Amino acid sequence: MSPRPASAPVVLSIGGSLLRSGELARDREYFRRFAALLGRLGRARPLVVTTGGGRTAREYIELGRGLGLTEIELDELGIEVTRLHARLLAARLGPPTPAHPPASVREAVAALAHASPVVLGGTEPGHTTDGVAALLAARLRASAVVNVTDVDGIYDADPRRHPRARRFDRLTWEELRVGVLGAASGAAGQNFPFDRLGVDTLARAKIPLRVVGGRDFANLARAVRGHRFVGTTVSERGT
Ligand code: UTP
Repeated sequence: MSPRPASAPVVLSIGGSLLRSGELARDREYFRRFAALLGRLGRARPLVVTTGGGRTAREYIELGRGLGLTEIELDELGIEVTRLHARLLAARLGPPTPAHPPASVREAVAALAHASPVVLGGTEPGHTTDGVAALLAARLRASAVVNVTDVDGIYDADPRRHPRARRFDRLTWEELRVGVLGAASGAAGQNFPFDRLGVDTLARAKIPLRVVGGRDFANLARAVRGHRFVGTTVSERGT
């Protein structure tokens, strides 16, 4: 297979907890700086960004569950929140980034022909914005998915609770599935490093996943550019 050109698209998925920390002033600063970075990165390559719902989505889902909404209705509530975050980021970026987040992978691919970055939230009930990012990457033949989280990579245990947890620099898809995802029971509320649909989609498409912390912007930019970065790369061969 021939190597992908340097300007191959990149898909970035950002967790909602980075966008809504619970502190308004902090979030305002984060949106400002993150949008400025995306604007720069998006000029150099086609860039698509999916925004997560974080605690705001979970709060609405909890409220809805208490009101007896169905699982699909709860997912749709979650999607609305992810789209709210996409709107905020897209509006801060300004034209040509579409102000109305595309509602499907197909729409996002079409929008990328005219604008970069393109920002969207969730699309279909039953998965998450990580899954959307992976589906988009497969459609776009992206060079990588960069998953921006509040932890700086994938660890063998939750580093917030286990100070001796070890970060993996590299993992194969198999190691991620067996060692990391397999260790969790799959019960609601567990925090997977990246959702299963996303893992399966990227493994099939042979597109690497780079997991990186969202607070160090220079490092984040290196991950998007395909340079050495601090975090975890998951790929077919783990290299
Ligand atoms: P997120 O993508 O934010 O999921 O979507 P998450 O795992 O909670 O990610 P973080 O915490 O932001 O990193 C929030 C919820 O919205 C619904 C799901 O219920 C999901 O848990 N959703 C989102 C969908 O049903 N489909 C989508 O495409 C996206």
